[in-house]
Amino acid sequence: MYFDSHTHLDDRAFDADREEILGNLKHYGVGWIMNVGCDEESSRRSVALAEQYPFVYAAVGSHPDAAAALDDKTLEVYRGLCANPRVRAIGEIGLDYHYEDVPRKIQQRCFERQLALAAELKLPVIVHEREAHEDGMAMIRNFPQVHGVFHCYSGSLEQAKELVRLGWYIGFTGVVTFKNARKAVQVAQWLPLERILIETDSPYMAPEPYRGRRNDSRYVPLVAQQIARLREVPPQTVEQATTENARRLFGITE
Ligand code: NI
Repeated sequence: MYFDSHTHLDDRAFDADREEILGNLKHYGVGWIMNVGCDEESSRRSVALAEQYPFVYAAVGSHPDAAAALDDKTLEVYRGLCANPRVRAIGEIGLDYHYEDVPRKIQQRCFERQLALAAELKLPVIVHEREAHEDGMAMIRNFPQVHGVFHCYSGSLEQAKELVRLGWYIGFTGVVTFKNARKAVQVAQWLPLERILIETDSPYMAPEPYRGRRNDSRYVPLVAQQIARLREVPPQTVEQATTENARRLFGITE
């Protein structure tokens, strides 16, 4: 069974058929999903989904796009949600310098406060880092007791090597199936098997041959199959390892 380690099934893109998708996941070989929050609202929705379905777990947190809205009150809400045993990570949090709608200083402050919360609550983190490689690495180095995953990885092989040294995981989406995915392919080939997570990041990032369409967790096996092809191992090897990795990172024993 596959573990989709990063999805947004609470997104309104799924309002018409969310229950149908969740009800059918086992038929596609998907046994577990981590539903990830982006702000206070989606974090609450993630926890609600996780309470409704035994194979859904939740992460709560503010994405860099929502950094300006993170205040003491939001942090208290997250702290309260984390008391729920269905919540297994703080995420997604991080830095995104691609659009810069939110000033860098504000993103950094938001990231830092949530890394501190993860340290306090002893929870792993799910990091979104885009075009902010140097600052992202500098900030996680300040929290050596916190670890987690760099999701939808877009960094270099060098950065991946440092993340592995620091005990982190790296998450791959459908991007590894794209023709122009040179860097992600290189990292997916090099990475130790016990550091790889697979994810859909649905509704975004649909793998080939569905690129550009709405994505959902049923396509996560396509990501594993592509990684298996790149590493020249049987797909079951990647399936088993990535599921074990996600369960280890998120502390899931059931
Ligand atoms: Ni995401």
